[in-house]
Parts: sequence; structure tokens; C-alpha cells
Amino acid sequence: MKALIVCTSVSHGNTRRIADAMGQALRAEVVEPEQVDVERLSGFDLVGFGSGVYLRRFHPRLRRFVRALPAGGRGRAFVFATSGLPGVRFQPLERALGQKGLQVDGTFSCRAFDTFLPFRLVGGLNKGLPGPADLERAHAFAEGLAGSPAKA
Ligand SMILES: Cc1cc2nc3c(=O)[nH]c(=O)nc-3n(C[C@H](O)[C@H](O)[C@H](O)COP(=O)(O)O)c2cc1C
Repeated sequence: MKALIVCTSVSHGNTRRIADAMGQALRAEVVEPEQVDVERLSGFDLVGFGSGVYLRRFHPRLRRFVRALPAGGRGRAFVFATSGLPGVRFQPLERALGQKGLQVDGTFSCRAFDTFLPFRLVGGLNKGLPGPADLERAHAFAEGLAGSPAKA
């Protein structure tokens, strides 16, 4: 199975650490949206899309990339995020990927270091996260996806 992970991680590298753990499990390259030609994605069986959460949404660079995907895509996808607070809203990105023809097979999120105001004033929220347990969970999540065949 050929997999690719597209990740925007601009704040603390939190999401990149999660992406790397998933990439290891899937033997997948982790790339930034700007490094991928959208037309190239059709060559992959499974593509992951992830970023930190910014003002309750996925990073604009990742959203722009998804908007630019050609319609009529095939294959499987998954979505992941790191955030300061619980309650990641996956649906908008899931819907956007579905509209491009991709089958979203799973979502993953974990809490991560956050220095967005007002947390900056107290030295940040969730210091030390993602931690080893999060990375293990990310690895296991990706392994699970690798093991599950595409639905008919
Ligand atoms: C400008 C800014 C806005 C943020 N907005 C949110 C938010 O709305 N909800 C949330 O849970 N975390 C928010 N965060 C925290 C980030 O989602 C968190 O630190 C994430 O792990 C950053 O990922 P990255 O290091 O991969 O970029 C925000 C952080 C910044 C810098």
C-alpha cells in the first residue's frame, strides 16, 4: 500500500511529530502541502491530511491544498490534528475531502503544547505534549489504517 502524509505544522512542530509517527507506521513520506503536486495524489492508496488547529479550524495552507485537489479523486484518506483544547472539528475537512471523491477512513487528534494567548501569559498549555503515549497512539492508529482494506 502506497501512503503519503500531507502536514502543516507551523507553531511548535507538534503536528509534525504526530505525522512522523504515523509516517513510520505507514512507511509514508511526510510532506508540506506546497511540496506536492495535487495531480500526484491519485498515485497513492491512502493520504493523511493534518495540521494544528488555528482559531478552531485546520491551518489555511492545508485547507487551500484540499480545495485545490482535482474532483473525481479515488482512494482513502485520514485526517489528524493537534490542538490546545479538546473538541477538534473534523467535519469541514472531512466533507471537503469527500467532495473531492476521497473516502475518509479515520480521524485522530491529541492535545499539544499551545502558546496562543492567553496561555502564553502562563508559559503555555499542555507542556511536553504530544508525549510518548500520543506518539504511540498515532503509530497504532496508522497501523490500523494500513491493515484495513478499502471499502467497496
Ligand atoms: C494563532 C493560534 C491560534 C490557535 N487556535 C486554537 C484553537 O482555536 N483551538 C485550539 O484548540 N488550539 C488552538 N491553538 C493551539 C494549536 O492548535 C496547537 O498549539 C497546535 O498543536 C499547533 O500545532 P503545530 O505546532 O503543529 O503548528 C492555536 C495556536 C495559535 C498559535
